[in-house]
Amino acid sequence: MKSPGQLKRLPQHVAIIMDGNGRWARQHGLPRLVGHKQGATTAQHVVEVFVEYKIPYLTLYAFSTENWNRPQREVRGLFRLLEERLDEGISLAQKEGIRIHHLGKLNGLSPKIQDAIRRALELTQDNTRMTLGLAFNYGGRDEIVEATRRLILKGIPAQDIDETVVGQYLYTAGIPDPDLIIRTGGEMRLSNFLTWQSAYAEIYFTPVLWPDFDKKEIDKALTIFSQRQRRFGSLAPE
Ligand code: IPE
Ligand code: IPE
Ligand code: MG
Repeated sequence: MKSPGQLKRLPQHVAIIMDGNGRWARQHGLPRLVGHKQGATTAQHVVEVFVEYKIPYLTLYAFSTENWNRPQREVRGLFRLLEERLDEGISLAQKEGIRIHHLGKLNGLSPKIQDAIRRALELTQDNTRMTLGLAFNYGGRDEIVEATRRLILKGIPAQDIDETVVGQYLYTAGIPDPDLIIRTGGEMRLSNFLTWQSAYAEIYFTPVLWPDFDKKEIDKALTIFSQRQRRFGSLAPE
């Protein structure tokens, strides 16, 4: 396998559905929350690899608007984990020059978590090496509903609305669409992730459970991406 540096084409924006923490924990005879902790550690390693590969945008799906339907204990555990790891995340971001960006609704999260997220955004806002999107309390449909509301509240005339304008009201305003969406854990669905932005993304599913996702698996995904032919509705060059 070629190293990513040798690949003809690398994605500018990779978005990852980090799935499989619960099954990983069960396989190891551990509580689900231990799986999530291991998953958070994996996320840190994966960020470092993408920084090393000079990929400017990475977005991680950490908590969906549907994940509220899980038992309260698990939801609380996930929130605690975010709070704990966000501080470490800020140190890593400052060291590596990463700007942290949030996708999702702050509304509905505890004031403590809201503060932690705001602090992460503020402290890292001037970093330019990579933009790391954290999709937390994120839903693709919710994002489109929120954008529609804000367009109406702003009084944007109907004839002025086009795809570019809608894009400016999404959580990803200013961030290019993902070129590659990776989902670990074997499920072949998007689960309400980047509903608008995924229109022409290449999608890569792997059965590897998120806590086991490592540099070798990243290299595999990037190699397969480099072999895909993207046509965007046009025809392949002769
Ligand atoms: C993904 O792992 C993390 C979150 C959705 C928060 P899961 O918790 O969905 O793990 P599985 O799918 O049950 O194995
Ligand atoms: C998707 O995983 C959400 C995140 C990874 C944050 P889920 O485990 O919640 O998705 P479903 O329920 O299998 O579709
Ligand atoms: Mg899951």
